[in-house]
Parts: sequence; C-alpha cells; structure tokens
Amino acid sequence: MKTQVAIIGAGPAGLLLGHLLKAEGVDCVVIERQTPDYVLGRIRAGVLEQITVDLMARLGLDERLRAEGLVEEGFNLADGERLIRIDVANLTGQTVVVYGQTEITKDLMDAAPARGLPVIYGAEDVAVFDIETDAPYVTYTLDGAPQRIDARFIAGCDGFHGPSRKAIPASVAREYERVYPFGWLGILADVPPCNHELIYANHQRGFALASMRSHTRSRYYIDVPLTEKIEDWSDDRIWDELAIRLGPDAAANMTRGPSIEKSIAPLRSYVFEPMRHGSLLLCGDAAHIVPPTGAKGLNLAASDVHYAAHALTHYFKRADNDAIAGYSAKALARVWKSERFSWTLTKLMHRFPDDGPFERAMQVAELDYIASSTAAQMSIAENYVGLPV
Ligand code: APR
Ligand code: PHB
Repeated sequence: MKTQVAIIGAGPAGLLLGHLLKAEGVDCVVIERQTPDYVLGRIRAGVLEQITVDLMARLGLDERLRAEGLVEEGFNLADGERLIRIDVANLTGQTVVVYGQTEITKDLMDAAPARGLPVIYGAEDVAVFDIETDAPYVTYTLDGAPQRIDARFIAGCDGFHGPSRKAIPASVAREYERVYPFGWLGILADVPPCNHELIYANHQRGFALASMRSHTRSRYYIDVPLTEKIEDWSDDRIWDELAIRLGPDAAANMTRGPSIEKSIAPLRSYVFEPMRHGSLLLCGDAAHIVPPTGAKGLNLAASDVHYAAHALTHYFKRADNDAIAGYSAKALARVWKSERFSWTLTKLMHRFPDDGPFERAMQVAELDYIASSTAAQMSIAENYVGLPV
C-alpha cells in the first residue's frame, strides 16, 4: 500500500491528525495495535483547552462536545482551609470545557469511515524504516499476514511506549525526565460532582482533586505513595480520604457511590528532542509526558497535531518544506511551557517525601500570594486555558 502520511497510533493524536490531513486532501492511513474497544476503554483526563475545542469545531466534529461538554469559567486551588478561585473567564476572556478524552477519541473514531479516513486496528509488530530518506515505510502484521505501507512521511502518534520515538538515532536524541515519588489514585463514580468547578487541594495529608465528566458522573483523585496497592483502597477508604483532603465544604457536598473504575497511575515529566528526524514527525505522548496536574496531556497532543497538520499540508499542497523543517522547534516551544506549568502546579499542590517545614511554608506562602494577587492568578489562568498556538 502507498500513502502520503502513515500515522502510527489511533489515540487522540493520531486520529485528530488523520482527520485534519484528510480535510485538506492529504492522503493518510492510521495504523493501531489495539482494537477500537480497547482504545475506548482507557480512562484519561477530561479538560479541554480552546485549541482542542477549536480543532474539533474546524473538523465539524464538535456537535456532541457542544451538547454534552460542561463549559467551565474557573477552577479552585484549596490549601486545606479555604478555596482560592481562579476566575479564568474574567482574567483571560476564555473558558475550558470538561469533556472526557475518551469521548473525543470516540467522536474521531466514529467519524473516520464517513470521512474516508482508513484506520487499521489490530496491527501487530509495527516497525518504521528508512526515516532518514524521502521514502520511509512501515511494516506490520495483520491477522498473521505481513504488510507494508510506503509513505512520504511517518507521523509517530503511538504514545509513550510506541516504536516511533525509538527509531530516532540516539546520536541526535536528547531526553529530559522527572519521575515523581507518588501516584494518583483515581476513582470514577456515577454521582453528582461536589462542586461545579474543579478543586485542586493541597492538604496536610496530601493532594486531592475533585473533577467530573458530567452533572451525574464524578472523577476524583488523591496522591498515594507508589508502594500502595489498589486492592488496599476500598471505595469507603477513598471517599473518607477525599472528604478530609478536599475540606469541609466540599465534603459536605460530596455524594459517595460505588466506583466504576479505580486505579493508581504514576506521574512523570518527560520530553524527547527533536520532535522530527528526517521523514518522521512525533506528536503527543510519543514525544512528551506531563504529570496530570493541570490536564495538559491531551491539549498538548492537540497543539502538536495542529503544527504537524499545517507543516504536512504545506509540504503537499505548496511544495513548501520550511514548515516541516521548523516543526520540532515550533512544537517544542509550546511543549516546554506546558511542561513548566504542569511541573509547577504539581510541586505547589503535592507533598514530596523529602519536604520539610521550609518547603511546606513555601507552598503556604505561594498559595497565600496567589490568593491575594491578580497578577499571580492571571499567570495561572492563562496557562490553564492554554497558551496561544
Ligand atoms: N503500534 C501501533 N499502535 C501503537 C503501538 C504500536 N506498536 N504502540 C502504541 N500504539 C497506540 C496505542 O495503542 C494508542 O492507541 O498508539 C496510541 C497512542 O495513544 P495515546 O497513548 O492516547 O497517546 P496520544 O494520542 O499522544 O494522546 C495523548 O493521551 O496518554 C494521554 O495524557 C495523554 O492526554 C494525553 C493523550
Ligand atoms: C480528570 O477529570 O480526570 C482530570 C481533571 C484535571 C486534571 C487531571 C485529571 O488536572
């Protein structure tokens, strides 16, 4: 098979890129290892920046998002005693939308056949070759039969564990990594949220987040040492801990219910440079990971894809190679700023095992400063809604 762009991975990055290229008349194929059900079974964050909403709107795939998404005008930081509201709408003139990442993936997946976007599921042993030439190719096995797709470019949208990034030679690669000494224990339940806006809390006992998927489905998190086992956390124990960490007001409004899902996820900051080598472009988690504090993961994948779609479209429609040449630097400039925000918010809202009274005092002082300074709130708000692309 021959195509212009072979896209590896049908997560949000790969599907979004596929749709954007198709809409511009660029030929592409998406190759995914898992089944559609498996892809849709992954539970991930759910706060969309304007850029992500705009991309769905540009594709005309925002109908369900507009109907079901919850527009949020602000969010809260809690310091154990009070809520500090960040009035995002007033400070920036913009809002975010609460809509699960799984729903975005579903909307993109469902629209693929009608838009003529081929997605091959169940592709095993995907490998990329000749990325330093103008004729790279992808091989894989489908139902036991070997397959090959020749392309002009390959887009590596295959997440943190995929093969694309590994195809870039170590001699040109730079990796930056920070692994955090705790994980987030998440619980999803069909109960109304305790607050109509998100609450990120830094309590003496640790971090907690109150989030939601809809008016009837809540998502909560607490941080736990990485040695904790999910089996030791009954639903009651999680609800009790949330009630303490989120504070009395949120606790009074919190409805408990049986978990639909609960799991512990590690936290990591990671950046791989460059995001392009020869004919291979990396997008999303294939190139970078942020800790979930601030919900930047999907939004960063969306901005990469925005730059990549622009670069690839210019190449095929205007024979212009400059945007391809500039892709890595352009994407990384925004990636690093989102990494900075996610890291800063993680440091501000979590207890690290080595933290002593001084580090705690610094967190308290910073939260107090944020509570009293419009400038500090503005800085947080503009990062939360997403920096310009
Ligand atoms: N061959 C083909 N597909 C693969 C392979 C492989 N060897 N390895 C991984 N994939 C697929 C995965 O099964 C997954 O469907 O690539 C896709 C990558 O999707 P995501 O991990 O969701 O990554 P991305 O699309 O970049 O989305 C970024 O997802 O992980 C969250 O927090 C992250 O919100 C961010 C968003
Ligand atoms: C979520 O709703 O799952 C969520 C929200 C905000 C975050 C992380 C996760 O920062």
